[in-house]
Amino acid sequence: MPKLSYTSAELLADHPYAKPHVEAGYRLHGGFDAEGRYISPRTLHRWPAIRAWSEALKARGGELIESSQQLMVKGSFPTVAQQKFLLDQGLGQTLWDSLTVTGVIEARGKRLAEATGPDFQSIVVEDISETATGHLAKGLLRAHGLDEGGNDQAGEGGHDAMWFAVRDMLFGKNAYPIPEIPESISRPEMGRLMPQVPPEHEHFILLMMNVLMIEVRAENFFSFCTTVMRDTDSFRDRRATAEHAAELVDRIRQDEASHVGYLTAVVSELRSFTFKTSDGKAVDGGRVKGADFMDPIWRGMVQWHSVTNVDFDRKQTRRELTEALAKKPGGAELIARFDALGEETLERERAA
Ligand SMILES: [Fe+2]
Ligand SMILES: [Fe+2]
Repeated sequence: MPKLSYTSAELLADHPYAKPHVEAGYRLHGGFDAEGRYISPRTLHRWPAIRAWSEALKARGGELIESSQQLMVKGSFPTVAQQKFLLDQGLGQTLWDSLTVTGVIEARGKRLAEATGPDFQSIVVEDISETATGHLAKGLLRAHGLDEGGNDQAGEGGHDAMWFAVRDMLFGKNAYPIPEIPESISRPEMGRLMPQVPPEHEHFILLMMNVLMIEVRAENFFSFCTTVMRDTDSFRDRRATAEHAAELVDRIRQDEASHVGYLTAVVSELRSFTFKTSDGKAVDGGRVKGADFMDPIWRGMVQWHSVTNVDFDRKQTRRELTEALAKKPGGAELIARFDALGEETLERERAA
């Protein structure tokens, strides 16, 4: 039997590193093995645990929800070709802004380090002590929050510092002013959606679903970044630096995989559990299967993060980018070229 029960200390434990992780003067989380391979922080037991809980769910007849890049039916905007065009036009600030916004939003994830979530055992019929859900307050949320926003006590920067390191490597520190940062990247609240469970549980389930989709969307942005940075046509005067920056993005990406992994396990477990309903309508003896009330909510969440909000973001981003192009000599022609470079992606989406 694989181990399914872990202490907080275990879920927060690091691998023994042969070399610490330091970049651009920042002491960062994680480290390297003797062969120089990057190892994500706090994954000595966390990864085996996530795999064991996921397998145990399947062994009980449950299934893991789809949380792969297959969900991202729309490509990134600007496209890689459009971003390269912007860089060629001297509009590196557009990428600098994206990297800054990403770093600041990652830092906000630190809130999870102090979160515990509500007690799910009180409303779930099955014993959840050997599940990912049962370990949210036992290290999983804490590890996630520290990954995103760093561990001040240990003097280690997290993803926020890693994105700022990437940005500073490519453009230099303080190359441009700090852009406006969106208030929230979660789906706006829509009132009570799951009256079968208490409000605090509903709120937390929505948080887990939002964060999972934010992680899936982020992966899309990561591959966009590494493709732009590894393109031999971009950053021609600092190829080695751009290659190194891409490597740093890949390390963040490697860390994020554990977030997608545990959040997928938690949302999948929740839909597999039987809930004691709290809405007073005692159907089936006051019991309801998680999937019955969560599946429509999850589908809506996927739709919002992969289509609705992507379309909205694109319009807004296009407006900002074309405003910047319009200020340049021959602006109208530049905008036409910029749009034409995105046409191929749009056509592919229309065909799909
Ligand atoms: Fe992150
Ligand atoms: Fe993450």
